[in-house]
Amino acid sequence: MQFQIDKTDGKARACTIKTAHSTIQTPVFMPVGTVGAVKSLDATDLATFIKPEIILANTYHMYLRPGDNVVAKMGKLHGFTKYPKSFLTDSGGFQAFSLSDNVKIDEGGITFRSHLDGSKHYFTPKKVIDIQHNLGSDIMMILDDLVALPATQERIAASIDRTTRWAEESIAYFRARQKEGIGTEQNIFAIIQGGTDKAFREKSARELCALDYDGFAIGGLSVGEANQDMYDTVEWTTQFMPTNKPRYLMGVGTPEDLVENVYRGVDMFDCVMPTRNARNGTLFTSFGKVNIKKACYTTDTEPIDPECNCMVCQTYSRSYLRHLFRAREITYFRLATIHNLYYYLHLMKQMREAVLEERFEAFRTAFYKKREQ
Ligand code: GUN
Ligand code: ZN
Repeated sequence: MQFQIDKTDGKARACTIKTAHSTIQTPVFMPVGTVGAVKSLDATDLATFIKPEIILANTYHMYLRPGDNVVAKMGKLHGFTKYPKSFLTDSGGFQAFSLSDNVKIDEGGITFRSHLDGSKHYFTPKKVIDIQHNLGSDIMMILDDLVALPATQERIAASIDRTTRWAEESIAYFRARQKEGIGTEQNIFAIIQGGTDKAFREKSARELCALDYDGFAIGGLSVGEANQDMYDTVEWTTQFMPTNKPRYLMGVGTPEDLVENVYRGVDMFDCVMPTRNARNGTLFTSFGKVNIKKACYTTDTEPIDPECNCMVCQTYSRSYLRHLFRAREITYFRLATIHNLYYYLHLMKQMREAVLEERFEAFRTAFYKKREQ
């Protein structure tokens, strides 16, 4: 992977990442395609209306169904899904914790039961790399040990120690496989843990960032802590991360979260928020959130966001979208998802332009001002 910083403005960065499948300009938001599809869209919708240079898929889901061996046989993620741009895959630990029953963690890995059929599985650092080799993602994530907050100091200390040990094992295995010709076009990121504790975050960041990773993620946030705690933790942690590699904040967030964390030096994000909220009737606009089921939109001829250039806003009224939502019409999910993702990707583009033109502070102020009106 090639990485280049195009410009910085304060702590905010505009970078370019080149993988085997696309050129990614940052800051970037990666739409979530958990099972190899962004919910309600197909690859043509993505390529036509959203144009993301990178999307996310989940190791946990693809391993359980259809199986990473099936995906490998069908031309890996790119051949199977027919989305030709970059893929990032999460490692599975986080999904095992949030979706399955009976999760048990030991020094070697994570035991869990499938949320699909209750079958028992064991993820180890090497096994999730093997799976991600089969998936062929451009960026794979290591197996990390997560703690639900609030947690005891002992539990957080154990989590970061285990995450570091797994990270050492992971990078040795990943680079050894590359020497054998496997995964040579793939990249691997480590995941910094440590809750909202400064000393733990520093320790985790220092230990992981000393290793030969292609990029680094900040994990374990957006798990119920106050927004300001998340921002403070990110601001604190980024100072221990290298400037010459991508920085990825996992599972974040709202439009405000994106602005605040780009401001603090984050390059990459993913979150189910734009896609999940679309399906629940919450649409994002330049003047804040719109709840499309409200009666005030019954005969509203305006588009969702008059400032939005997406296909949906160019074509349909709030009135029609409200009707489709209330009728639980399948088309609603697709249109709402297209608008919300377009909004998120456009917001990232605006932030990149603001960094390139050294006016990020002014952009941030204007972003908030618009939401008060
Ligand atoms: N997704 C959101 N947060 C996390 C995290 O801390 N670890 C992993 N693996 N995935 C995540
Ligand atoms: Zn729109």
